[in-house]
Amino acid sequence: MTQSIINKIKSSIATVPNYPKQGIMFRDVTTLMSDPDAFTAVIDLFVDKYKNKGFTKIIGTEARGFIFGAPLSYALGIPFVPVRKPGKLPRAVTSQAYQLEYGEDILELHTDAIVADDKVLLVDDLLATGGTIEATFKLVERLGGQATDAAFVVSLPELGGEKRIEKLGIEVLKLVEFEGE
Ligand code: PRP
Ligand code: MG
Repeated sequence: MTQSIINKIKSSIATVPNYPKQGIMFRDVTTLMSDPDAFTAVIDLFVDKYKNKGFTKIIGTEARGFIFGAPLSYALGIPFVPVRKPGKLPRAVTSQAYQLEYGEDILELHTDAIVADDKVLLVDDLLATGGTIEATFKLVERLGGQATDAAFVVSLPELGGEKRIEKLGIEVLKLVEFEGE
C-alpha cells in the first residue's frame, strides 16, 4: 500500500466534532463515498489483499458494512451476505445480542446463509470497540463457518477493538487510523 493512496483515503474522510454527542469526533465516510478516486482506492486495496485467498462468503454488517462489502463481493465474484439489524430479514434467522455504550442491540443473519466450512471475510467501515464485528463473528461461528479475516476502512485504536478481535483469532486489515486528531 503506498502512503500517498492511504493519505488520499484518510483525507477524504470528514471529521465532525461533537457528533452524535459532546466529546465524540465522528469519522464520516460519506465524504469518502462521494470521492470516486478514494472509494475506488479502498475497494482496489481490499481486492489486492483478498483475491485468491479461498474466501467463500463476504459479510457486510448493516448499514455501513454494506457500502464496502457489496462492491468487494462484485469485484471478487464471492457471494455477499448481509448481517442485519433485527426484524429485517424475511426467512429463518440466527440472532446475536451485543453491548452498546448504553444497553444492548441485536444482529441477525439468515440461518441458511452460512454453511459448515464457509471461509468468511467480514467487512465494515469502522472498528471502534469491536462489539459489532465480534457479534458478526459469533453468528458465523454458530452456523459452522470460519471468519478468519476482517477488513475496515478506519480503525480507532484507542477504543480497543483491534486487540479485542485479534484475541478471537481474526486477522485485521485497516487502511487508516485516527487517534485523537
Ligand atoms: C458503526 C460502524 C461500525 C460500528 C463500530 O455502526 O459502522 O459498524 O459502529 O463500532 P464498534 O466497533 O464499537 O461496534 P452503527 O451501529 O453506528 O450503525 P450503521 O453502520 O448502521 O450506521
Ligand atoms: Mg455499522
